[in-house]
Amino acid sequence: MGSSGLLTLGLVLSVAHCTEILGPGEESIEITQNIMAVLGEVVYLGCRFLGAKTINGTHYQSVSCSAIGGRPTPQISWLVNGLPASEHPFTMSVNNTTLSNGTSSLSSILRFPTHLQDEDSVTCEVQHPTLPNPKLTTVRVETYEYEGHNVTCSFDHPKFAHSESRTLPSFYLSGVRLLDSELGINNKDFQDTETLELQEGQNEIIVGLEVIGNVPRYNVTCKKDDGPLPEGLELDGSSLRVQGPVEHQHAGLYECVFSYLHLKAILQINITVQPHVIQPVPPTIRVDLQTKDGHRVIECSAADAVPAANVSWHLPEGVSGVSWSNFTSHNGSHSVRGVFLLPACSPWELTAECVINHPAFEEPENRSITLPLCARPNITINSSTELKGGMLFTKVDCSVDSVASAAAITWHVGNTDNSINSSLSEPEVQADGLVSARSSVRFLSSLYAGQNLTCVVEHPSLEASEIRTIHIPVHKAPLLSVSVARQRDSHLWLAVCDCKGEGFGTNLAWVLPENVKGQTSLHSEYEGRALKARLTYQFPLDRHEGQDLTCEYRSERGNIEKKTVRIPRYHITAVRVLNHTTPLQSRYGGGPIIHRLTLQENHHNQKILLQVVGNMSDYDLNCKRSDGSFVHMERHAMVFQSQVTEKDAGLYICCASFYHHMVTVKIQVEVMSEDKQFAMVAIGCISSASAILIIFIVTLWVCCTRNSRKQYKKPESLSALTALMQEPGSPEVKKPMVTEKDSKEHAQMVSYSIVIDVKSTV
Ligand SMILES: *[C@@H]1O[C@H](CO)[C@@H](O)[C@H](O)[C@H]1NC(C)=O
Ligand SMILES: *[C@@H]1O[C@H](CO)[C@@H](O)[C@H](O)[C@H]1NC(C)=O
Ligand SMILES: *[C@@H]1O[C@H](CO)[C@@H](O)[C@H](O)[C@H]1NC(C)=O
Ligand SMILES: *[C@@H]1O[C@H](CO)[C@@H](O)[C@H](O)[C@H]1NC(C)=O
Ligand SMILES: *[C@@H]1O[C@H](CO)[C@@H](O)[C@H](O)[C@H]1NC(C)=O
Ligand SMILES: *[C@@H]1O[C@H](CO)[C@@H](O)[C@H](O)[C@H]1NC(C)=O
Ligand SMILES: *[C@@H]1O[C@H](CO)[C@@H](O)[C@H](O)[C@H]1NC(C)=O
Ligand SMILES: *[C@@H]1O[C@H](CO)[C@@H](O)[C@H](O)[C@H]1NC(C)=O
Ligand SMILES: *[C@@H]1O[C@H](CO)[C@@H](O)[C@H](O)[C@H]1NC(C)=O
Ligand SMILES: *[C@@H]1O[C@H](CO)[C@@H](O)[C@H](O)[C@H]1NC(C)=O
Ligand SMILES: *[C@@H]1O[C@H](CO)[C@@H](O)[C@H](O)[C@H]1NC(C)=O
Ligand SMILES: *[C@@H]1O[C@H](CO)[C@@H](O)[C@H](O)[C@H]1NC(C)=O
Repeated sequence: MGSSGLLTLGLVLSVAHCTEILGPGEESIEITQNIMAVLGEVVYLGCRFLGAKTINGTHYQSVSCSAIGGRPTPQISWLVNGLPASEHPFTMSVNNTTLSNGTSSLSSILRFPTHLQDEDSVTCEVQHPTLPNPKLTTVRVETYEYEGHNVTCSFDHPKFAHSESRTLPSFYLSGVRLLDSELGINNKDFQDTETLELQEGQNEIIVGLEVIGNVPRYNVTCKKDDGPLPEGLELDGSSLRVQGPVEHQHAGLYECVFSYLHLKAILQINITVQPHVIQPVPPTIRVDLQTKDGHRVIECSAADAVPAANVSWHLPEGVSGVSWSNFTSHNGSHSVRGVFLLPACSPWELTAECVINHPAFEEPENRSITLPLCARPNITINSSTELKGGMLFTKVDCSVDSVASAAAITWHVGNTDNSINSSLSEPEVQADGLVSARSSVRFLSSLYAGQNLTCVVEHPSLEASEIRTIHIPVHKAPLLSVSVARQRDSHLWLAVCDCKGEGFGTNLAWVLPENVKGQTSLHSEYEGRALKARLTYQFPLDRHEGQDLTCEYRSERGNIEKKTVRIPRYHITAVRVLNHTTPLQSRYGGGPIIHRLTLQENHHNQKILLQVVGNMSDYDLNCKRSDGSFVHMERHAMVFQSQVTEKDAGLYICCASFYHHMVTVKIQVEVMSEDKQFAMVAIGCISSASAILIIFIVTLWVCCTRNSRKQYKKPESLSALTALMQEPGSPEVKKPMVTEKDSKEHAQMVSYSIVIDVKSTV
């Protein structure tokens, strides 16, 4: 450990200055002073220049501190301004060499960029067991206090004939200027703001920027209007480069900052872009009007213009439509096609104006198109009636011929807004482009009878909806008539109920007692729009004689209409013989009276006059002999046409009949020759004298009893006398119930009979 105390300390200060300036051919100057000393003796410190030390434009200084030949290895650390220089910007590199005899040499190099070191000295601290205190060695280093001054370094050496000196330059950066040979700009008297005018559309523009100064290199940053550079423009080295054509967006105020270390120069460039000047070509204007798919299509085209024309529309207030534009370009010229869609139909005349604006025009060009008035629709309404199931139906058609689109049809009835459901047929498109809309309503006529039915038409050509009205007539109540008549070929009577009218059902009936059914028949037929219905009822006269027959019509609304016909009451009171007769058999005999009558023998055309007493105008009257053979009749007379003989004598029965009414009279005909007649007259004179006497007695008796008898007895006496003089009558007459009126009739007959009797005797 004897030699362990030996330590050689060496401090090397290496200061390198711009090798570039020194030139590549010259070697860096290295001056070394090594001082060896024994521990405890005086130590000499050496200094040397290392040179080749500006890297990437940055000037570095290196200070080397060595402790040689020590054992154990010494420790070296660095102090700047009394603080350990271990961090940025200081870097340290250590060389540790160990020799075979166990000694080692340690060398530490402190390196730092000159401009970041403010202190003018660094201290090397060596620690070793042989040293009682750490050995501090301070060396001066270069600082930037000399900026702007030339720094000259002189080197002396015994071998140098004269001292070497090098002058280190000072850097300056006084400004930046535009350098653009292509643009012809080389602004010598540079200023803070340069103005650069570019043309829109220019290609591959490079704006060169030149630094005024001697800095070996510099950093450049550029921005535009305090923001990033626009697209298509970038910094390429120290040039601004426009890729592609110059655009308007490239104009603005650019600021480029050039810096080298702490040196800085700023250039502002006001770039203006002159717009591309083009020769305007006016458009070819064309307007066109078409009708397509229910629309009017107005086209306004401004074709082959440079630049593109502007097409816009002017329309009357309140009119709107769909519009669009179509742009096409070809070979640098532009075409614009404006299209306006308007409804095909309008109630007003419309003028649409197309306005074309173009730089080639001093004033905007106008083109107007007048859309003609839309033809009003033709509306027709008609109605028809139809009978179905006895019901009258009305069908009303409303048809509208119009230009497309089809009209809308609705229906209203009466004054109110009652709308009716209608059947709307599909609109038909006709050959001429017109559209036919048709709507019809069908209803039971009675539903809206007397009301107005209105067809309401709406169409774009109409400012307000148009109406057509049709009046639904009121149908008169059916006419009802009844009659009753005899039938020629039947013993039955016929009651007829006739009903005639429009729009009624055949709801006819005879009102009959419940037990009387059938024998009615209904017949109906149409006479134009009217329905004629006939309901007949056949009946035997005796069923309803004297009664009222009622026919009833019931309408669908339930109204009942009635008509009544009275069936007359008939009677045959008697069949009288108007010629002089004598009764053959008295009523007291129990049988009917037989009238005895005498015919003259051998006389022609002798008549026996008969009279039927009754209330019918027509009846059957015939006479038969007792053997059943008929007697020739002339109206109400039995006629003996041929010469009367004895054979004609006998009993004759005459019968007057009317349906179930029947009255007979019996006549005993006698035939008398002229001789017999004479004898009879003589006998007659005698008998008539006695007859006068009898009558006188009877008259006297009647007078006496009339005065003495009470009033109510009179009819009885009369009836007794009447019965004596009377022939049998029809069943009704024979009825025992005799009214006051009947009795008067009888009284007249009685007096009449009496007169005849008296007369005959005169
Ligand atoms: C160690 O060796 C070196 C070189 O050989 C020599 O200079 C130095 O004196 C030696 N040291 C000692 C203590 O022997
Ligand atoms: C010098 O700068 C270049 C680029 O910046 C870099 O690549 C290189 O490493 C630097 N050299 C040194 C020694 O720092
Ligand atoms: C270290 O030191 C030895 C002897 O002084 C020298 O030969 C060698 O080149 C050095 N190494 C470095 C990397 O400096
Ligand atoms: C130098 O080398 C020796 C032997 O290798 C070692 O013991 C010592 O620690 C080293 N010193 C430094 C500072 O690296
Ligand atoms: C620095 O040196 C240059 C060249 O040697 C010289 O031209 C210049 O005047 C000097 N500057 C000063 C301030 O002395
Ligand atoms: C350039 O800028 C970079 C990043 O800011 C910086 O690291 C570098 O030192 C600068 N160089 C000069 C020469 O100013
Ligand atoms: C740029 O130049 C134009 C035209 O010379 C000028 O109108 C404008 O004011 C300038 N802009 C600035 C920021 O100077
Ligand atoms: C076209 O003209 C209209 C009306 O003058 C205007 O409002 C519009 O801005 C113009 N359009 C263009 C692209 O010029
Ligand atoms: C625009 O016009 C072109 C050419 O006339 C046509 O082919 C195209 O369909 C139109 N486009 C429209 C949206 O109308
Ligand atoms: C309506 O009728 C008139 C006369 O017949 C005719 O001139 C007109 O074109 C018709 N209108 C329509 C829309 O059918
Ligand atoms: C039906 O229309 C006619 C004519 O428009 C009108 O005189 C009549 O009063 C209307 N009748 C009813 C019931 O509305
Ligand atoms: C019946 O009387 C009529 C009229 O008085 C008379 O013409 C007729 O000859 C009479 N007949 C007989 C048979 O007497």
